[in-house]
Amino acid sequence: MITAAAQEPAQEPAPEADVLVTSRPLDEYCALFGLTRARLAALPGPLLDCPGGAAGLAAEARALGCRVIAADPAYALPLPEVAARALAARASMAAAMAARPELYPSPPSCRPYRPERYLRSWDRARWLFAEDSAAHPHRYVAAALPRLPFADGAFALTLSGYLLFAYPELFGPECQLAALTELVRVTAADGEVRVQPLHDGRGRRCGHLDRLRYALGERRIASEVRRVPRGDGRTRRVMVLRSADRRPPAAAAGPPAVMVARPFHSYTYRMSETTIRPARPADADRLTALIQASSAYRGAYFAMIDGYTVEPDYIERHEVRMAVDRADDRLLGFYALIHEPAELDLMFVADEAQGRGIGRALIADMLDRARAAGIEAVKVVSHPPAEGFYLQVGARRTGTRPPQPRTPWAQPELVFTV
Ligand SMILES: C[S@@+](CC[C@H](N)C(=O)[O-])C[C@H]1O[C@@H](n2cnc3c(N)ncnc32)[C@H](O)[C@@H]1O
Repeated sequence: MITAAAQEPAQEPAPEADVLVTSRPLDEYCALFGLTRARLAALPGPLLDCPGGAAGLAAEARALGCRVIAADPAYALPLPEVAARALAARASMAAAMAARPELYPSPPSCRPYRPERYLRSWDRARWLFAEDSAAHPHRYVAAALPRLPFADGAFALTLSGYLLFAYPELFGPECQLAALTELVRVTAADGEVRVQPLHDGRGRRCGHLDRLRYALGERRIASEVRRVPRGDGRTRRVMVLRSADRRPPAAAAGPPAVMVARPFHSYTYRMSETTIRPARPADADRLTALIQASSAYRGAYFAMIDGYTVEPDYIERHEVRMAVDRADDRLLGFYALIHEPAELDLMFVADEAQGRGIGRALIADMLDRARAAGIEAVKVVSHPPAEGFYLQVGARRTGTRPPQPRTPWAQPELVFTV
């Protein structure tokens, strides 16, 4: 059993042809956002890079033990096209740097600063991106601000570089506000969002930043403009956003299905009705995103979901049903019932939906469907921390599955009598 969350899938995102698909390496990200490799390694949850462009961040951060999900509308394109756009961005960057060198960063990793050396760091990042996104496509989610397909509070840290203020023709003040609010929504209450630069492509500062910050404050989002050293005696400005309602992290433990929820962000919370409906093949990416954002599989248990994807044909072959918000189809949880031999194969509840009875409702629905199919008993091989939940909702312990290569720990075996 796994627990995670994802929000309503936006429409197929439309990549903006005029926006450069840049390919920065991890060290440049650290320099631009005022971060360190150690800070990334110590993150208590996944990092969202939105927009991800063709960055090497996800691939490189992985080696630090930091999970990165990159989101960008460009990922809706075939990979060779993204790579071609990234190459075109490199050429634009080379031309722009030659024209106005004072505007462009000289990250510590590229000193002494020589444009060729800097651009080579982009080449390496672009290759890492191409390799990583081909091998692990679930880490690269096609999505466009101001609407992201992730659950509330899914990320420990969210980075947004070279978009919201860099392209004011695409993101006017209203759209910036909506996008920043969305970035905070998908970030944990005890996490933060960092955004840079706060100027456009010609170096002109955003003239309405104070008004924007006021409007964020009205949405209970605290903002700070922090000065980050550039390493050349000057500083760059990074905006840091946090939910003003942040509280201490929720107490740990307990089975995932009833795990204490992260506090809802007050500005996105509204009462809503839940309905359970069949998943469609087109929902596969949302289900994968929910799994990958799961906080129930952090730490040692992460190996179990690392690289795991729900494919459209899996949804066609099995009974996969989703709990969604009736108003906007936001994904709250799902299960997959294999009929022959009968087994509950997947069971996830979104972090944001914990404690609302979604897990119980999914189990009741699963038993109804099993009954309708003439199934008499449904087996469950449980994620160890979820055993208590299954016992609470009527399953009976029948045994223990010995450690396996992918799950090198014993797993409780249970059965539901239908
Ligand atoms: C200049 S790149 C920045 C990439 C990376 N963050 C960096 O700092 O290098 C801008 C990216 O924004 C993406 N983009 C364009 N419109 C977007 C939107 N509405 N939401 C999210 N990303 C968008 C583009 O596809 C492009 O990859």
